[in-house]
Amino acid sequence: MSRLVLIPLVLFVAVSGTAFGLAKWHPAKPGLPKIAGGSVKLGDQYRGETVFSTSCASCHGQNGKGGGIGPRLVGLPISIARVKAQIDGGGNTMPAGIVKGQDEKDVLAYVATIVTLQSG
Ligand code: HEC
Repeated sequence: MSRLVLIPLVLFVAVSGTAFGLAKWHPAKPGLPKIAGGSVKLGDQYRGETVFSTSCASCHGQNGKGGGIGPRLVGLPISIARVKAQIDGGGNTMPAGIVKGQDEKDVLAYVATIVTLQSG
């Protein structure tokens, strides 16, 4: 085969192979910052969005944009450990333990994408 064909072919295979491989492997989940949960285990952010609209949006607004009796969560500087403590322990009018187990892990992963994450 001539080099004029071979070189572009090899390049194409290498580049598309890398892109496809990375997409499959997804080392960094899109939208989820590195520091994300710290020691807290996070679940599936997409499932968590659904959990959020069922269990949190009534007070914190659709997608945490505020408007209910709870504070706006979008852009709020907070750590995931603190969010988890708030969910587990409640506070003022926010009831303790509204979500647990997998739902809680998932909703934490979602909340991690809307707040301004602090470490710790
Ligand atoms: C019944 C209404 C209500 C529901 C439902 C609710 N919250 Fe809250 N939430 C509040 C209120 C009110 C506060 C402020 C509490 C306080 O001052 O301690 C709050 C505070 C918080 C805070 C702390 C904000 C801060 O500045 O420290 C987080 C994080 C939070 N809620 C997340 C959630 C998540 C996630 C869910 C769903 C699993 C949820 N909340 C469901 C009413 C609610």
